[in-house]
Amino acid sequence: MNILITGGAGFIGSHLVRRFVNNYPNYKIVNFDKLTYAGNLENLRDIESKPNYSFVKGDICDAAFVEKTLAENNITAIIHLAAESHVDRSISNPMEFIQTNIVGTVALLNSAKHFWAGNFEGKRFYHVSTDEVYGSLGETGFFTEETPYDPHSPYSASKASSDHLVRAYSDTFGLPAVISNCSNNYGSHHFPEKLIPLAINNIKNMKSVPVYGKGENVRDWLFVEDHASAIDLIFHKAENGETYNIGGHNEWKNLDLILLLCQVMDRKLNRKPGTSEGLITYVKDRAGHDLRYAIDASKLQNKLGWKPSLQFEEGLERTVDWYLANEEWLNRITSGDYQKYYSDQYVTR
Ligand code: NAD
Ligand code: TYD
Repeated sequence: MNILITGGAGFIGSHLVRRFVNNYPNYKIVNFDKLTYAGNLENLRDIESKPNYSFVKGDICDAAFVEKTLAENNITAIIHLAAESHVDRSISNPMEFIQTNIVGTVALLNSAKHFWAGNFEGKRFYHVSTDEVYGSLGETGFFTEETPYDPHSPYSASKASSDHLVRAYSDTFGLPAVISNCSNNYGSHHFPEKLIPLAINNIKNMKSVPVYGKGENVRDWLFVEDHASAIDLIFHKAENGETYNIGGHNEWKNLDLILLLCQVMDRKLNRKPGTSEGLITYVKDRAGHDLRYAIDASKLQNKLGWKPSLQFEEGLERTVDWYLANEEWLNRITSGDYQKYYSDQYVTR
């Protein structure tokens, strides 16, 4: 198989590329990425010289260039992760989300449809999406594959649109598509604008840890390598037109998660217990902040036999260890533009 992975230089994409390059030496893996602020080829240093890996810098919105890349590499499958992915940025600048997540996905669908020219035998278009398309839960209940879409942020609305368009191409043109909707990921190589890596970085540097509102929002956290293992399984085993939810049954209130992280960091940094907790700062809440996400992943478990490999406490320790051991990676990306974003974004209550 010759697989184009879009967004392979980002957080989840780099874990997926690494997994496929290492586990499938007979597949040709082409990483197609625009290298926005969130894309970092350093994430793939360990596999970049492998013979079954190559990188192409490009924008998914540029259909002609995408199609040229598909042809030059005789691509038989696409795993699509490229996206603008941060909710807060979608609130301050929605247009980039509309452009990449919606227009870019349609450009990619068109390129695949045109290049494969109706010969869909052995082809696959895998769209990687999020549980945020389902909206917000109250205190109880879970998102299943049948939950109606109800996105609230420009990010989740743009991802919902892209899911609909992938289904439209499947239903209308017979494009062999599958979709998965996953809960919040955490792990190494996560850009420090998202809650967990941002908190690790700030605690390490004795800076305040911003908690939105009262910290009562709930997220369902999955170790990124478990997301990659689920994508691998779905990619190989799902039937065309299917959707799978991916999640680890691991719900945490933001404040409880931060308190646990503070304990882990105090221990790892040999600080007096309670030191990091003192850094917690309550800041202005996110506009339209979804209260709770929680995934019912029983379809994936029952049909394909997938289970997450790690307990959260172990995954969090491993994540903290990685960030503490990779200071240079962090320092290189937390300079420049990111500093400006940080000062614009956070207003202390
Ligand atoms: P990320 O922001 O870390 O990485 C996105 C990657 O896409 C970057 O490498 C960036 O350079 C690239 N990219 C952006 N615009 C592009 C364009 N126009 N053309 C080509 N490349 C472009 O994102 P992530 O957290 O790794 O998320 C990857 C995918 O998984 C996204 O589709 C996201 O919606 C989905 N997802 C993320 C999570 C999560 O918790 N992070 C959970 C569920 C689903
Ligand atoms: P985030 O990592 O941005 O993921 P998402 O919004 O896609 O779920 O945020 C996770 C949760 O943490 C969310 O409820 C918002 C909250 N949050 C904070 O309290 N402080 C922060 O600095 C950030 C970035 C997020």
